[in-house]
Amino acid sequence: MTKVWDDPVVGGVFVGMGTDSRDQLRQKNKNLLYFNTGGLCQKINRPLELTHRDLGITDKEFDIVANHLAATLKEFNVPKREYEEVMAKIGKLQPY
Ligand code: HEM
Repeated sequence: MTKVWDDPVVGGVFVGMGTDSRDQLRQKNKNLLYFNTGGLCQKINRPLELTHRDLGITDKEFDIVANHLAATLKEFNVPKREYEEVMAKIGKLQPY
């Protein structure tokens, strides 16, 4: 998540979040990822359409965040098949 917070375009919406809030956001995203890929974790996030409401997220901003995730998956050498599965699921979140 540090890639997102440090990003020059989208980082601004996270300014002012303390360490605990950042830790929670990170954990919620981990659980969401594990849940969506058949892991044992339960989702602990509120619905994204609620959390993201009124942020006015543009397609460009969405792509920036998705690309940070893609970069992280590559850093961890996630195999091609799993990488593509995850990114396909993330793409479906785009309306939110
Ligand atoms: C890959 C797409 C994305 C995913 C999977 C995602 C996931 C999440 C999750 C799980 C939460 C926590 C919800 C909760 O508190 O219960 C969240 C919150 C949030 N997201 Fe996203 N998000 C995505 C894209 C974006 C984008 C593009 C932006 C803005 C540029 C954004 C801005 C935020 C903000 C500001 C919060 C609230 C942080 C807080 O105050 O707690 N997200 N997101």
